[in-house]
Amino acid sequence: MSGTAGGNEDSAPKDRPSLPDEFAELTDPKNREDPYPFLDELRERSPYAPFEGLVVVARYADCSAVLRDPSMSAARDKATLALTPRGPRTRNFLHLDPPEHTRYRRLVTGAFARRKVAGLAPRIRESATELLETAAAAGSLEIIEDLANPLPLRLICELLGVPFEDRDLLQDWSAKLSQALEPPFGQPGGMSREASRARAGIVTYFRDLIEERRGEHRDDLITHLLEIEEDGHRLDDADILATCVLLLNAGHETSVTLIGNAILALLRHPDQFDRLRADLALAPAAVEEVLRYDTPVQMTSRVARQHGRIGSADVRPGDTMVLLLGAANRDPEVFPDPGRFDIGRSPAASHLAFAAGPHFCLGAGLARLELAIVLELFSTLLVRPRLRSGGLAYKRNLNLRGPARLLVDIDGFRSPGGVHRAEGVRSADDAHVR
Ligand code: HEM
Repeated sequence: MSGTAGGNEDSAPKDRPSLPDEFAELTDPKNREDPYPFLDELRERSPYAPFEGLVVVARYADCSAVLRDPSMSAARDKATLALTPRGPRTRNFLHLDPPEHTRYRRLVTGAFARRKVAGLAPRIRESATELLETAAAAGSLEIIEDLANPLPLRLICELLGVPFEDRDLLQDWSAKLSQALEPPFGQPGGMSREASRARAGIVTYFRDLIEERRGEHRDDLITHLLEIEEDGHRLDDADILATCVLLLNAGHETSVTLIGNAILALLRHPDQFDRLRADLALAPAAVEEVLRYDTPVQMTSRVARQHGRIGSADVRPGDTMVLLLGAANRDPEVFPDPGRFDIGRSPAASHLAFAAGPHFCLGAGLARLELAIVLELFSTLLVRPRLRSGGLAYKRNLNLRGPARLLVDIDGFRSPGGVHRAEGVRSADDAHVR
């Protein structure tokens, strides 16, 4: 059970434990829509070991401490329990520990800094407006297919310098690969054949693209990854390949989930949506509240390197800590009345949706910027958006949990030239147009 972007291979571990009873309700796809009552129970019981080798960590303070603890390793293949299928994989830095992680991450951060994230704002705005306008012409939108899926994919392709015409190919691979981020509890072991094939496709694709970019001096991330050097360290081709796969894998499906969760939260809380519409400067705060309230990456893991304790739970070397980030972000010790969606919150501590410590999400700035722009456009461009009854379905994913389908009806679209009524929609009276 890990935030294992970057892929694992087919070998099914022999010693995978069966599902403990208390996880059954959580993992049942029927309960995807509202896992929070079960997560609350797990948090109250935590930290505890449901069986040898596994410690459930779900309180905010404990999750935060484990994420920052240098004796906790991100190398999941060092765990006693084979919760993560073993086998060869691209060596991405999500699974490395300091000091190797520090060196590798610093180089990637340097390459990221050259391709300034803030500079992407006009492109995000343009792309999101175009996607919303195209979909709105039909009178309703399916948020996931029309916006949440294509927008982050376009952005990551643009960031990396992937040719526009290849994006459908990457979208397909990325969706298949996201299965690899799921915990293995209660499902057949290993990576599916489909996901393995997708991974092989991505690897070949990026290998060729890296070769093409060599010596071209373009302003894209692949070129910066090839050129960056710090204190005599450089990334080799295998590192660059692994980083490309990681960025696509860690940056796409997470953003799809975040956008879906955000639109859903606003549509279900009209008072908060009105507040945002009345004051668009609240958009960044709304982004933080969505990340806390409906955390897109629900869990990650660490492996203990030495003996220790978390609260009353004993920890031994090789034990896997399952960190329930979605539960930690609803911890009443830190966030009063945690089940309330309140975009005006000023929390005492920052949520853990992007983790914390050395592996704090490298794409957090991009994800935040992207969603703030989406929320602003969603609030201003669409006339009377509302969730269609029966228009919500969840993905099966337990970790990257969010809507698979989110149907929104609208009365029209506001462009600089004025309001375009959606076709087939009764003309809304002005009181409706907000
Ligand atoms: C949209 C919402 C996103 C969420 C909720 C999210 C969440 C996370 C979390 C929880 C981790 C830490 C995993 C761990 O330590 O076990 C992480 C790491 C990472 N994320 Fe994100 N992420 C998001 C978007 C992105 C984007 C857009 C990118 C890139 C363009 C990205 C790139 C990365 C990378 C490279 C790491 C590994 C950092 C390291 O190991 O040092 N993420 N992310």
